Amino acid sequence: MAAQASLAPLRQQARAAGRAFGAAIRTDLLSDADYTRLFSTEAEILVPEWEGKWDTLQPTEAGFDLAPLRAITGFAQAHQQRVRGHALVWHNAMPPWLVARLAEGASTARALLEAHFNHVLPATRATIRDWDVVNEPIANPPGADNPQAGANPLRESPWFRALGPDYIEIALRWARALDPTLRLTINDYGIEEATPDADIKRERLLALLRRLLDRGAPLDALGIQAHLQLRRPFDPDRFGRFLSAVRDMGLAILVTELDVREADTLPPDLAARDAAVADRVRAFTTTAMQAGCRTIITWGLTDKHSWLTQDADVARRDGVLTRGLPFDSELQRKPMWHALAAAMG
Ligand code: G3I
Repeated sequence: MAAQASLAPLRQQARAAGRAFGAAIRTDLLSDADYTRLFSTEAEILVPEWEGKWDTLQPTEAGFDLAPLRAITGFAQAHQQRVRGHALVWHNAMPPWLVARLAEGASTARALLEAHFNHVLPATRATIRDWDVVNEPIANPPGADNPQAGANPLRESPWFRALGPDYIEIALRWARALDPTLRLTINDYGIEEATPDADIKRERLLALLRRLLDRGAPLDALGIQAHLQLRRPFDPDRFGRFLSAVRDMGLAILVTELDVREADTLPPDLAARDAAVADRVRAFTTTAMQAGCRTIITWGLTDKHSWLTQDADVARRDGVLTRGLPFDSELQRKPMWHALAAAMG
């Protein structure tokens, strides 16, 4: 008779196998007792969904606000959890003042980056030992959703325009200089599936990682966001070869924002939809584990608060709520939860 699958919390099952499971959490929901109980029970690692970004941390120049982030680090300390920092340098969540000042050029940009790191990293040194230092540096290939994209392998963000491609190395080196034992991660998306665009992004990312490491830039890990899309094929071998190339560079691999966007056409019923999501998560997570990934983080725990149901750009066009996280809107486990438990445990 098959062993009864454990219903122990994911943090417990992952830890028992020498791995770590976590999820993105939001300060604005910490007053919801059901929400906080779910996170304290299931997650060993917490990631601030918006509280660690520039628009929250430094909404005005030299005006810092770490209170929302501290609400999460305080919650983590109370529940024996760790916190991943997300994200020091990104082209989104930039306050308007920052975009305007970056246009002044390289010396201003470097001074602003250093001032931000000089405030945030020492202030969180005791509670955050791992940051996404640069988020989404790779340019998306030219395609329907970004016809203006060019041949530049790096996203032409305000940081890129101010400092050139070296902004990534500058950020990594400044973080390392401030905190020698901080784990420094580059985090990106669109590198998971078996599509020509993902092939291009993977090659661009591998080239960036090789160039940074060849120059001696401090870098410890690659974060793979894993916003998976069922309308795109997944090839474990192709993704596994990419992960092996990253591991061969001596980098750790983290899955940092796992969730699943269903196809826009409505499958027959919830059971079929949930099974399709679980099958993709099982294939993806197993491939990552086999390549040496030891950390799986989902972008939230319950469909009730997923960006997939709140961001019009990714929500289902038929208005049906996406079911891309381990728990449904009533905080009940779904097949995706069991797929994660099986793959990590
Ligand atoms: O800033 C306010 C804050 O003052 C307020 O207290 C709080 C509660 O109402 O809302 C905050 O606003 C919004 C926040 O989400 C919380 O809902 C921000 O306006 C909004 O921009 C923010 O969106 C987040 C987005 O990143 C931009 O930061 C999403 O929650 C978050 O899911 C999304 O996450 C990104 C990752 O960082 C990178 N990878 C893709 C992923 C999905 O887009």
